[in-house]
Amino acid sequence: MAKYECSQHMHDFLHELPKCEHHVHLEGTLGPDLLFPLAKRNNITLPDNFPKTPEALQIRYDQFADLEDFLGFYYIGMGVLITEEDFFELAWMYFNKAKKDGLHHAEVFFDPQGHLERGIDMDVVVGGFNRACEKAEAELGITTKLIMCLLRHLPVNNCMDTIELAKPHFAKGTIHGLGLDSSEKPFPPHLFIECYAKVAEHFPNVGLTAHAGEEGGPDFIINSLDKLNVTRIDHGVNSYKDDALLARLAENQTLLSLCPLSNVKLQVVKDVSELPIQKWLDANVPFSINSDDPAYFGGYILDNYIVVHTRFGFDLKTWVKIAKNGVHGSWITDARKKEILDAIDAVYLKYQPLLE
Ligand code: HPA
Ligand code: ZN
Repeated sequence: MAKYECSQHMHDFLHELPKCEHHVHLEGTLGPDLLFPLAKRNNITLPDNFPKTPEALQIRYDQFADLEDFLGFYYIGMGVLITEEDFFELAWMYFNKAKKDGLHHAEVFFDPQGHLERGIDMDVVVGGFNRACEKAEAELGITTKLIMCLLRHLPVNNCMDTIELAKPHFAKGTIHGLGLDSSEKPFPPHLFIECYAKVAEHFPNVGLTAHAGEEGGPDFIINSLDKLNVTRIDHGVNSYKDDALLARLAENQTLLSLCPLSNVKLQVVKDVSELPIQKWLDANVPFSINSDDPAYFGGYILDNYIVVHTRFGFDLKTWVKIAKNGVHGSWITDARKKEILDAIDAVYLKYQPLLE
């Protein structure tokens, strides 16, 4: 395992470096400290065998066997969210935490089907999350986009019904993107062709992305590109196994939204040093660094940047390139891109005399 120092100056640089997050599940920001009080407030009975204290739950979170094991806890956790205020508070807490980490732009996932099946209205979920997005833009200066994910373990007709319910939000722009998450391997991308085609047909400006290549092979990534017409790949770790795919991702500048701490916690790799980050850089495949489910995986966006630094020891120019690739791959206007790119250059100039 490669180990590099992260000096105080380097830490400060990574902290100040303007960051874009493209892969965070708002429900995955719900940690043990919030789960128990919300369960109490909303009279939710947790399963009998569920850990009884935040400390015991945290210990269990440190031992996920794989994606499936994590998802069991993730769906129980989100079950304590009931009111519009619950959804608002959760997202508002995330934006504040991420702002402290140097976040400038966030494209955040949510899983409406995990709430609809418990009788919560789409408008309650989107209303609360969107109110937090607006407050983050107004008070924290963070630009935001909401991305609705489909749960791939649910039947396609359930996904199609969910798209129907989301139509007014796609039309207004309160939902800006479509994603695909949950158990990957048993539910390949082609199952959802109809869902992606419907959204693309009615709302050509909606951004399309999908989790692929976290546990599935390169074919899951290729089929997400070919059959779902996504312009971004969430995780995409297994792209490194196919050189032609790497060339294609580089050619089209398709962004991979990497989640290093998640990959360790879900046993995709044993250590962050095993991620083929140098290979993606050498192949000119753009990627961003993200937290996925920060309350479950032990770190927010800055923690993910720092762990990558301690394993790869990149120089300032490489970090600037990574940060800028995140801006180029964001679903924002050119004017907003320029603001963040200029802010990245300013931080580089501030730290260059200290670190180069
Ligand atoms: N993969 C798939 N589904 C998810 C994840 C993930 O990392 N996080 C929340 N839902
Ligand atoms: Zn994810």
